[in-house]
Amino acid sequence: MKNLLVEIENLSVSYRTIMGEYQVLDKLNLSIGAGERISVVGESASGKSTLGHILAGMSPPNAKVEGSIKFDGDNILQFTEKRLTNFRGSKVFMIFQNPLNSLNPVKNIWHQLFETVRIRDAKNSIKSSEDDARKEVIAVLTDLRLPDPESILKRYPHELSGGQVQRIVIAMALILKPKLLIADEPTTALDVTIQAQFLDLLKKLNSDLGMSIIFITHDIALANSSSERLLVLYGGRVIELGQTENIIRRPMHPYTIGLVESIPAGTKNSSRLVSIPGSPPSYKHPLSGCKFHPRCAKILEKCDKIEPGMISVEDRQVRCWLYE
Ligand SMILES: Nc1ncnc2c1ncn2[C@@H]1O[C@H](COP(=O)(O)OP(=O)(O)O)[C@@H](O)[C@H]1O
Ligand code: SF4
Ligand SMILES: [Mg+2]
Repeated sequence: MKNLLVEIENLSVSYRTIMGEYQVLDKLNLSIGAGERISVVGESASGKSTLGHILAGMSPPNAKVEGSIKFDGDNILQFTEKRLTNFRGSKVFMIFQNPLNSLNPVKNIWHQLFETVRIRDAKNSIKSSEDDARKEVIAVLTDLRLPDPESILKRYPHELSGGQVQRIVIAMALILKPKLLIADEPTTALDVTIQAQFLDLLKKLNSDLGMSIIFITHDIALANSSSERLLVLYGGRVIELGQTENIIRRPMHPYTIGLVESIPAGTKNSSRLVSIPGSPPSYKHPLSGCKFHPRCAKILEKCDKIEPGMISVEDRQVRCWLYE
């Protein structure tokens, strides 16, 4: 492990709803090294975005959060609202599935990037002049190969393409230089070529600035090209965790095996949804035993009665009785 940046211990999250309270993350443990790239993969509703939001200090108001998340040694779950606001602007930055959610629809791009420079300056107790800020912003946009940056700055978010909006969001990250960037399905709205360019940009942020990156995706093929380590979520539980390359080469958990088998041969990037027979588990009617048992072809006698914990096997951890 490189220098430790984040240490998540026993993170559990439940949502309070009018239908009752249900748990969507269960005792999740994960350490993130400074400069590390980790992918979080799982089907829809497995809890990926919940993990991203909580880590980014954006806990939904109806969430009950337990455990601890130490960021640079401080537990962000105990931060006051003021400290959280500062944390969000300085240490962590989140890119959403719909990039437009990261931008303000009624302000032009210059306005928003200038504001970003101001936020960065405030935390460093400096104040760039408007001229200097403009020069910096244009340099960043040029570096991101956005043609005609002057004209882009005058436009509003809805006047840009999906790929351009994602680059503006990346520009914000380049200006803020957070220690951790969380990208939640950031390429879903992009076509395949732009998708590849975007993933290259994320890697550049990682290699040039040493930013740690959490890449959230439902597509294990994208995870493969984006990260050193892979965390597989199923029904709010980590079910496999290890080096991405090792897991893709030799998945162990029956669910991960299904995910890897669904990557079409010879395809590096796919944007399909994974399809494993059966449906994801329901949070409203939790199952006893292993949450994957109704869909598992390798089910053992005890699987529907007792839930396995994480088991250390060779180069990774797996939640499955087959490896006891
Ligand atoms: N604020 C919320 N209140 C109630 N339920 C929520 C809330 N946010 C997400 N959920 C539910 O929690 C589960 C996990 O959601 P999410 O973390 O968005 O999963 P994913 O990103 O893997 O699709 C889903 O069933 C979703 O409908
Ligand atoms: S614990 Fe049992 S049901 Fe669950 S994945 Fe392993 S073999 Fe299948
Ligand atoms: Mg999501």
